[in-house]
Amino acid sequence: MSTRDDHYYITTPIYYVNAAAHIGHAYTSIAADVMARFQRLVGLQVNFLTGTDEHGQKIARAAEAKNVGPQTFVDEVSQTFRDLHAGLNVSVTDFIRTSEPRHIKGAQKFWEAAAARGDIYKKSYEGLYCVNCEQFYIEKDLDEGGLCPIHRKAPELLSEENYFFRLSKYTDAIKKYFDAHPNFVFPHNRQKEMQQILDDGLEDISISRDAKKLSWGIPVPGDDAQVMYVWFDALTNYVTAIGYGDADEKMFDAWWPANAHVMAKEINRFHSLLWPAMLMSAGLALPKQIVVHGWLTVDGQKMSKSIGNVVNPIDVIEKYGIDAFRFFLFREMPFGADGDFSNLKLEQRYRSDLGNDLGNLLMRTIAMSEKFCDGRVPLETTGDHQEFWDRYREHMSRWEFQRALEIIWDYVRGLNQLIDREKPWTAHKEGRSEDVARTLYTLLEGLRQIAIAVQPFMPATSEKMLEALGFDFFDPKFDNLMEWGLLKSGGPLTPAPPLFPQLTV
Ligand code: MSP
Repeated sequence: MSTRDDHYYITTPIYYVNAAAHIGHAYTSIAADVMARFQRLVGLQVNFLTGTDEHGQKIARAAEAKNVGPQTFVDEVSQTFRDLHAGLNVSVTDFIRTSEPRHIKGAQKFWEAAAARGDIYKKSYEGLYCVNCEQFYIEKDLDEGGLCPIHRKAPELLSEENYFFRLSKYTDAIKKYFDAHPNFVFPHNRQKEMQQILDDGLEDISISRDAKKLSWGIPVPGDDAQVMYVWFDALTNYVTAIGYGDADEKMFDAWWPANAHVMAKEINRFHSLLWPAMLMSAGLALPKQIVVHGWLTVDGQKMSKSIGNVVNPIDVIEKYGIDAFRFFLFREMPFGADGDFSNLKLEQRYRSDLGNDLGNLLMRTIAMSEKFCDGRVPLETTGDHQEFWDRYREHMSRWEFQRALEIIWDYVRGLNQLIDREKPWTAHKEGRSEDVARTLYTLLEGLRQIAIAVQPFMPATSEKMLEALGFDFFDPKFDNLMEWGLLKSGGPLTPAPPLFPQLTV
């Protein structure tokens, strides 16, 4: 393995700080966290980046509406995103803000690289701009009545002299790249959508704003009268965070290209078309994969302030615990597609999959070990779970999180059935101590394996399970946690508090 092969670099979008975070943002960050934790589990070194997108018209207006300066405003909201990630148990290793000097310096270097390639020119332009998307629209892409298809609001007419990026020049190169990399965009239908846009041909885009009209942005190198277009600025965060623009680019060389940029479908186009063109222009390699998921709705409806159904992840966590929330998001809906969040469905999963299937299995197993084996791990028995792990690894590495959870739950149910079939209490009464020991070892070691497999989804639950089983997740002597037989005979077991206590309401 070269150094690069044991590195895994994954990113979320950097979130706009015009408003508070909701479960949609949480969904993306947790999805990326599941993958980050899985990659660590299989032994890779992971760099996991999130952050906040702090420039542009939308943020400037939000600050104005609050009557505070933009920097004060973004400092405050950015902190709430940082806190949220901690609350979600998302194991990010870096958090970038586009108002930080390290980013500004790198974004300017990026601009200069594209300019040096001859890809930036100035021209007068008039177009329809959706401030919420921070994007120009051409009429054919607008909904009926001339509304933005995402926000259903009328775009504003902007007219100014700007710098343009020669996006059109890269149409063929990106097409070729897509052909050579059929799995560049996940899922495949999202790559096909992008291919259609490529077939129509890409158009050059405006990448700056007149600083007299919008000053809240990164100054264009060599022209203080213009600031960078917020998307040109924002996309470069993926490289500025790892030291693009530093005098010493060792860190950049170690981590670039990224393994995965994760996001929802409305910004796929920026990541799968514009960003690759920008990278080609700057002479940098392309990311390995663009991972696109659907939108999360609430009780079947789009989340919106006007409907009043915006769900704050903190409220969900308070009620059900972070792990139940994390589990639900990936057990309930296939990752990639749109999905619906509802308290009712979450409660059902909480009671059945988590409380009954998993929580009770651990409780019963530990209780029987106390009664029949002095609270210690009995004699080891052999077992073969290679097929389970092969399938698990395959699903996880392909972002098939729902499938991975399905096969874990098959394992859980299999162990519950083993108890019903073997009836250790009867075997104990009949003095069949070897049978009892064999069944209990299979249960305990099976639970240990399950604790490892659920770790990317439910890290705190995994920790509680392993603690009850007397197993140290971080013990360096276990370099492959997926092997059978790591629980050693005679090891102490500890009765665990219920993993998923009964809901009070
Ligand atoms: N700032 C840009 C991204 C720049 S990346 C270089 C942006 N920010 S955002 O705050 O609007 O975040 C959009 C992202 O948040 C979506 O792509 C998705 O990852 C996540 N989600 C926001 N609402 C969501 C849902 N309702 N459902 C699923 N994901 C959602 O766009």
